Amino acid sequence: MRYAHITGWGKFIPERVMTNDDMAKLVNTSDGWIRKMTGIGQRHLVGPKDSCATMATAAALEALDVANISAAQIGMIIVATSTPDYAFPSTACLVQDALGADNAGAFDLSAACSGFIYALGMAADAIKAKSVDYALVIGSEVMSRVLDWTDRNTCVLFGDGAGAVVLQGSDQPGGVLSTVLRADGSGGDMLYVRSNYNSMPETVQAAEVVQSNGGPGSEAPSCNGYLKMNGREVFRFATRILEHATRDVMYRAGWQADEIDVFVPHQANIRIIDSAAHALGIPTEKVFSNIEHYGNTSAASIPIAICEAASLGRLRPNDKVVMVGFGAGLTWGAAAVEWGTPRILNRTNRTLNRVRLGAAGMRSRARRAWRRMEDRLAGADDTTHSPPKAPHPSHSHEKSNNGHSTDPVPTEKVPLKAEERDASKL
Ligand code: UT7
Repeated sequence: MRYAHITGWGKFIPERVMTNDDMAKLVNTSDGWIRKMTGIGQRHLVGPKDSCATMATAAALEALDVANISAAQIGMIIVATSTPDYAFPSTACLVQDALGADNAGAFDLSAACSGFIYALGMAADAIKAKSVDYALVIGSEVMSRVLDWTDRNTCVLFGDGAGAVVLQGSDQPGGVLSTVLRADGSGGDMLYVRSNYNSMPETVQAAEVVQSNGGPGSEAPSCNGYLKMNGREVFRFATRILEHATRDVMYRAGWQADEIDVFVPHQANIRIIDSAAHALGIPTEKVFSNIEHYGNTSAASIPIAICEAASLGRLRPNDKVVMVGFGAGLTWGAAAVEWGTPRILNRTNRTLNRVRLGAAGMRSRARRAWRRMEDRLAGADDTTHSPPKAPHPSHSHEKSNNGHSTDPVPTEKVPLKAEERDASKL
């Protein structure tokens, strides 16, 4: 029998910090309210050169180092994200190109905050079915670019970042033992971001949604591409579903709640986490939470937490770990994982991956140039407009003022007036 073990982990957190006090300069809120109601103390936001793909690549590179494998060994790359750089190509393809992962299939997975658990389940199944031996599973989100920075109900909650794990096939029992992946699309109106590429006039869309009565709820959603949420409803759903999904995945793994060594829930709200842990009878010391530092990073929150827990020595060999997430869709999912043995970092593979990264960039540019030359030789018009380029993670390591922002508003998302928002959609 084949098993899928987590043998590598990495994360990328943008340098720029936005504290709750910074938030209070932007919207009518306070550090006290945010901490008390959510547990969030600060969040990190991308800089101008960071993107979903650059963060994903940086996190992936770190995970490859820990797993001590070369990018060429990866057979599958899944990036769970709701904030990709492009509708297509997928962020996963940009990561594949940047890493020089020549033997990998690559695709994005959209399941909002549950995306990482979904991707982990898919990749583990591919390994167990012997389709691939190694998979990279990444969660990467640029939530700051879909937030309405004038809406205090939502903008205080989210942050940017990426986390990644390497899954490795092995005949040794352990690893991802069971997963639960579920959805209830009838709750789509509780949390959504409308696609920006939908350019139909707002009134037409609204009429259509109401008429068809099949869209997200009977109320027509906003068309402005910003995150909308019914916080109370999501809160109620989350507290119920975290307990339910955890019990489900434990049952499938044959575990009891008191056997769990580490509980890693989606980092959305400390009150949701505490409530679920309490209902499950899991003591606080077994719950891993870092929401205070990063806020809710959506699909990146669980892999970032896993990476930190591993780095802090909170995950020991043979530990029984439950990861559980929930999010827009509605979606939810859980994974029961028996933690593997720690890897010894081998400098050779680390160096090789850096060399490969440089070579992959050159190779990518050479391939583009070759295609352009072929086009010219064939007499075709050059119809390429700003083609997507593979990201280079070094772009993402720029520091700004010791990581602390003097400008509380992300430059790309200065709050817009309603008429400016409409204009920006054109
Ligand atoms: O990945 C999944 C994503 N989402 C979530 O997990 C979010 C789940 N929901 C929540 O975490 C909570 O619903 C929130 C933390 C967002 C809000 O807590 P709540 O207990 O549901 O509060 P509420 O929305 O009912 O608002 C209570 C009050 C309201 O004022 P009034 O009407 O009572 O005067 C809000 O306007 O708190 C006000 N409020 C704020 N006050 C200061 C809402 N946001 C803020 C804010 N600062 N940022």
